[in-house]
Amino acid sequence: MAILDVNHLTKRFGGLVAVNDVSFRVKEGDIHGLIGPNGAGKSTTFKMIAGFLSFTDGDVLFNGVSIRGKKPSRIARSGVVRTFQETTLFQELSVFDNVLIGNHNQAKTNVFSALMGFDESKQQNARETAREVLEFMSLWERRDQQASELPLGFQRVLAVAVALASKPKLLLLDEPFAGMNPEETRHMMELTQKVRESGITVVLVEHNMKAVMGLCDRLTVLNFGTVLDDGTPERVRNNPDVIQAYLGGN
Ligand SMILES: Nc1ncnc2c1ncn2[C@@H]1O[C@H](COP(=O)(O)OP(=O)(O)OP(=O)(O)O)[C@@H](O)[C@H]1O
Ligand SMILES: [Mg+2]
Repeated sequence: MAILDVNHLTKRFGGLVAVNDVSFRVKEGDIHGLIGPNGAGKSTTFKMIAGFLSFTDGDVLFNGVSIRGKKPSRIARSGVVRTFQETTLFQELSVFDNVLIGNHNQAKTNVFSALMGFDESKQQNARETAREVLEFMSLWERRDQQASELPLGFQRVLAVAVALASKPKLLLLDEPFAGMNPEETRHMMELTQKVRESGITVVLVEHNMKAVMGLCDRLTVLNFGTVLDDGTPERVRNNPDVIQAYLGGN
């Protein structure tokens, strides 16, 4: 069974159909790429899967269960967590505290109790999780740095760490490689592999083709809100329609 089953998913914004009858399946344990030109509907699809946007039509099943109408916090607790295309770190807080706050969703506590320590045992667990996640993502040495002091590549690694603190089963990454230099790209590719090897299924929205082709087991290509192709990276990269969509004026 697919861990994620996106079924005839549709989203209209007024007259614009941003996502139009999109269906694809993600196999458990895969890194699944969701690619396509700017405005193709990738982030809108992620927002619907994670419960940040309602759907106009269709459905999304996570482990066979519909997420329709559920709040993002509930979907996250069930195991589906997204990162954001735009940076959403707390810039003035430390690396450690950013991850601690990321954990509040899993701990069913709130941001204030996470920071203020209202609940001692939950607080202790959250700190342990934050430490594990930071070590896993090779950020432990930077734990006391302010998020704003981190180079861009590490800010993006931290954003993934924040998502991991919620202990996802399915991680939706929205352009984690954007703006990265080759060294940062290589590092993030290693970390993404490591996340998958830890048992987390990954859906990757990304324009960096080196990362996409190097990481993904399967690709779904969106163009103008519809699925243009779906298959192995080899199949997709040789599809003339896909090549045309990327070269054809976006
Ligand atoms: N809240 C909104 N209201 C109206 N239109 C929107 C809204 N969000 C997205 N859109 C439109 O929906 C379409 C799909 O946008 P989306 O952000 O999903 O694209 P994308 O594939 O993520 O693109 P990019 O690669 O540039 O991030 C675009 O035409 C966009 O302008
Ligand atoms: Mg986007």
